[in-house]
Amino acid sequence: MTRTLLRGRILTFHADPAETEDNHRYIEDGAILVADGIIEAVGSHDELRRQDIIKGAIEIDHRPHLIVPGFIDPHIHFPQVQVIASWGTQLLDWLNRYTFPEEARYADIDHATRMAGAFLDQLVAHGTTTACAFSSSHRGSTQALFEAADVRGMSLIAGKVMMDRNAPEGVLDTAQSGYDDSKALISRWHGNGRLRFAITPRFAITSTPEQMEAAGALASEYPSMHVQSHLSENLAEIDYTLQLYPKARDYLDVYEHYGLLGQHTLMGHCIHLREREIARMAETGTRAIFCPTSNLFLGSGLFDADGLRAAGIVSGIATDVGGGTSYSQLQTLNEGYKVLQLRGQQLTPLAALHWATRGNAVALSMEDRIGSIRPGCDADLVVLDSSATPDMALRAERLETLSEELFLLQILGDDRSIAQTYVAGRPMKPARPLN
Ligand code: GUN
Ligand code: ZN
Repeated sequence: MTRTLLRGRILTFHADPAETEDNHRYIEDGAILVADGIIEAVGSHDELRRQDIIKGAIEIDHRPHLIVPGFIDPHIHFPQVQVIASWGTQLLDWLNRYTFPEEARYADIDHATRMAGAFLDQLVAHGTTTACAFSSSHRGSTQALFEAADVRGMSLIAGKVMMDRNAPEGVLDTAQSGYDDSKALISRWHGNGRLRFAITPRFAITSTPEQMEAAGALASEYPSMHVQSHLSENLAEIDYTLQLYPKARDYLDVYEHYGLLGQHTLMGHCIHLREREIARMAETGTRAIFCPTSNLFLGSGLFDADGLRAAGIVSGIATDVGGGTSYSQLQTLNEGYKVLQLRGQQLTPLAALHWATRGNAVALSMEDRIGSIRPGCDADLVVLDSSATPDMALRAERLETLSEELFLLQILGDDRSIAQTYVAGRPMKPARPLN
């Protein structure tokens, strides 16, 4: 069994700084003992060095860098790695002009396999160790994504997109094939190592009532399985949805009617919500996922983080690549800070880092395994260098507090600030091609 002792400055959270004063643990000269992909002990380097348990462990010294839990991205689209940075449109035109034609290419297994490896390598390079991903509508591309995550030992939640209308033939399934393909992928991959399946109706516009029914049937067969979709991202999207589902009280009601709400349900965007929708999301425990780079890029609107929290809704923060414009959770927090500025709301540096780590783990109901540095958790870790670039190094000369350092990382940091990413204790940088 490989045992590794990682030395560095350690920061981890046990509560949300936006809600609780006693929320984090910071160890200036800390050490993490990792054995078989699991965190075995955490403490000051001095304290651990005196204990028998570290005997035989190989020490890796990351000082002066900061070791934090691996970032978690709770909403991202795997088949959009070549859609990112497509010019000039809002949501529905962007889907039709760029996204659906690109996703149609994932019917080709060779293409999907190459992109799956590239996608996961990008995540790891940017410090992300768990993602909740939309695949394309093809069973084979979803299979390729799970295989690539399995090879890397990565924690991945992913779903074959269900979509049976209002898109080109090459990305459409049917209510029955969407159900059958999901079932086949569930039996092959769900609960296999660190992999989980998510029931993934793309959004109300691209699913017929029959397909929503099939998604609801899956959700009732597998009550603890994640469900992921999109909700109230764009005003034209909401109008069209209500035309397609004229009996629905509002957009959320479409999903509610088919039994798709609950604490394992993750709804991307949630920008233009009505009062009833907010109340119902809170009552059912449905999660809202903030995607700031995407919301600005597609001109969708400004997420109301404080309002949803006050209503009792748990929120995550995600990249939403390729509507989103960066794989980096640091850059996502940067844009999130600015969106909230425009809302007159404040995101403190500690609350920001908590959100991308333990906060997102809570949104996924996976905080018992990921998002924190404590014994028993998976050893998914990121080593952050706050002087990674010349502009960062200059600013770092004037840092006085940990919060200032975190804010520097949040505003100027990106993949260049990721000195190392550990996936289940395994160092992943420099990126080694695995398939
Ligand atoms: N709504 C439905 N599909 C998508 C997608 O791929 N990206 C975004 N941002 N919103 C969507
Ligand atoms: Zn999305």
